Amino acid sequence: MSIENLQVKRGKITALQDFSVQIGRSSITGLLGPSGCGKTTLIRCIVGTQIVTSGRVTVLRRPAGCAELRHRVGYLPQDPTIYNDLRIIDNVRYLAALYGFDGKAADSAIERVGLTNHRTAFCGNLSGGQRTRVSLACALVCEPELLVLDEPTVGLDPVLRVDLWEQFADLARGGTTLLVSSHVMDEADRCGDLLLMREGRLVAHTTPTQLREDTGCTSLEDAFLSMIMRNTVPQAG
Ligand SMILES: Nc1ncnc2c1ncn2[C@@H]1O[C@H](COP(=O)(O)OP(=O)(O)OP(=O)(O)O)[C@@H](O)[C@H]1O
Ligand SMILES: [Mg+2]
Repeated sequence: MSIENLQVKRGKITALQDFSVQIGRSSITGLLGPSGCGKTTLIRCIVGTQIVTSGRVTVLRRPAGCAELRHRVGYLPQDPTIYNDLRIIDNVRYLAALYGFDGKAADSAIERVGLTNHRTAFCGNLSGGQRTRVSLACALVCEPELLVLDEPTVGLDPVLRVDLWEQFADLARGGTTLLVSSHVMDEADRCGDLLLMREGRLVAHTTPTQLREDTGCTSLEDAFLSMIMRNTVPQAG
């Protein structure tokens, strides 16, 4: 995946500014940064739902958002959209059908997210974490080459979080490329690559080990803060 000189305005705000990065295949890249720094905006550019002012986004060697990429890229939005009046299995089957997959694909996606025992439950009756997992199953059902997840573990309990990260690692080992945004720095340790963002800019493209080395911090939380401080330009006046 390649992003070149991307600039995005949302309303009056410049949400992304001169953003360039190359992301490799079959890996987990973590996208980290404070609330409002532009993570969701960047993800929307990658999945092709964001109008960009200038720059270029190339995904799996194709222009982001092109028709061919629709079944090659899975997307878990920050605000999961599932139909409350449908059962879990129907939500996932619906998505599967849209991508030309059958009921078996839906069953296996549901199994991956650990909801097989709840498959006939109506989505309106699910907990927050269960809803996220249904949405994740919808993103997984087309067996995408690239899986883009916007804060998939928010609101999940620690056991489930670990579970999901193990699944992400499994998918990466199987050849899927994952881009995962998060606020939670302990999750950064589970990523091969890290993109650190601040105020619409890329502050660092690094790895957990490199980030620790560069900042001299053992905790990634401290390392990130130190990196952010280093990149804060003092205001004139
Ligand atoms: N629909 C919108 N219209 C106008 N501005 C928006 C819109 N959505 C986001 N923005 C602005 O764009 C900037 C980047 O927002 P974005 O949602 O990409 O941040 P984020 O890093 O995903 O934050 P969070 O961690 O809270 O999800 C913010 O300044 C935000 O206020
Ligand atoms: Mg966001």
